[in-house]
Amino acid sequence: MKNKILVIGSGAREHAIVRALDRSPYEKEIYCLASNMNPGIAELCDEILIGNFNDHDFVVNYSKETGATLAIIGPENPLENGVADALWGVNVKVVGPKKDLAKLETSKAFTRDLLREYNIPGGPQYQTFNSLAGVTEFLNVLGKNYVVKYDGLAGGKGVKVSGEHLHSHDEALAYCQELTDKGSEFVIEEKFIGEEFSLMSFCDGNTLKHMPAVQDHKRAYEGDTGPNTGGMGTYSDANHSLPFLTENDIVEAHQINTQTAKAVKDKFGEGYRGILYGGFMATANGVKLIEYNARFGDPEAMNVLSLLESDFIEICNGITDGTLDNLDVRFQNKATVCKYAVPEGYPNSPVKNEQINVSKIENPDGLFYASVDIQNGKLVEAGSRTVAVVGVADSISNAENIAEKEVSAIDGPLFHRSDIGTDMVIQKRINHMKSIR
Ligand code: AMP
Ligand code: GLY
Repeated sequence: MKNKILVIGSGAREHAIVRALDRSPYEKEIYCLASNMNPGIAELCDEILIGNFNDHDFVVNYSKETGATLAIIGPENPLENGVADALWGVNVKVVGPKKDLAKLETSKAFTRDLLREYNIPGGPQYQTFNSLAGVTEFLNVLGKNYVVKYDGLAGGKGVKVSGEHLHSHDEALAYCQELTDKGSEFVIEEKFIGEEFSLMSFCDGNTLKHMPAVQDHKRAYEGDTGPNTGGMGTYSDANHSLPFLTENDIVEAHQINTQTAKAVKDKFGEGYRGILYGGFMATANGVKLIEYNARFGDPEAMNVLSLLESDFIEICNGITDGTLDNLDVRFQNKATVCKYAVPEGYPNSPVKNEQINVSKIENPDGLFYASVDIQNGKLVEAGSRTVAVVGVADSISNAENIAEKEVSAIDGPLFHRSDIGTDMVIQKRINHMKSIR
């Protein structure tokens, strides 16, 4: 039977997803519901349709029109809006959890409570609040290492960390007051010190197949300075670990993902079917959980899917059918570096609708389109992260050389972080971990 697959989302992550589907030898039709005209996705799909993919009726009708039997949800918003529930309701199998299970990403308090209830290691000291009552007392317990988190999706902007965004308990209280005034719940938790990494697992509700570990760079500018972004670039190593991690760190991260999937199943009586993305921190006291995401990371998807050797359609069917345990999920033993070119002024005041030119890229298979549009036949920046390039090689250093050369070959009012994946930055991470372990 022909696979008719609907992909929701139209960034570089979804371009990587569509590419991985396209590589499969199975007979297929691929459809995409998009928020912008992504030419990379358009080229590989039977149809790309721009529309509101958070709207259940729109998505369900399109799935009927196309005859899609499998859907892959890229971004978090449709997950929060219950698009997976709506599609399962019309017998479309979905890679991506239902609304309740997506709370792993959409509610910080839910995730902290789940780990506490099921005795899963890696959680911080924390308390949940909806007023200022008890805030000062709890800040006093935590001392100078605390984090205040708005309890919902905020694109990373709801989290304020002591020493970075908050410089005193008074500033923390002022932020808590702001959240209280908006009627928001918030979590205050212990700040961990260490190095962050992403470890994503394919999950069918029972079985998890883990992907290589990846490190993202959230800050806009070189040397991890400037405002937070969706992620400026990422790298992964040939051994699927990272140069600053121990073997035990990877084992602990796998265990936390596995135990969390089990806890979710127990809590909801239904398994988590999708990508379970643990945002971890390696610390002096082992691996800690910063957050969960209920989808592929962006840029992390470009790293891992560029390495995936196994058939992605089989994996997706394994996730939805609960048969992942029958599959051998393999990734190439190569290193990857992904770098984003973003508009000048990103993230706070990005230029928009300016033309860019990618024709000097040497390897088009390593180019992933993101926030772009086609205007009068021209490729233009749409205001968010614009295009990503991935270098794949035997070492991080060589992969970095490729990615840097490629990203520098893109013309337009753009910038990127040339430090991501360089020997100097990797050594800095290694030294940091050595100094705290
Ligand atoms: P989140 O949205 O929970 O991923 O938080 C955004 C960023 O804030 C993370 O990538 C971390 O850099 C930082 N962060 C969040 N929670 C903590 C924590 N408990 N300790 C240290 N840093 C944190
Ligand atoms: N790489 C960060 C994210 O996808 O949320």
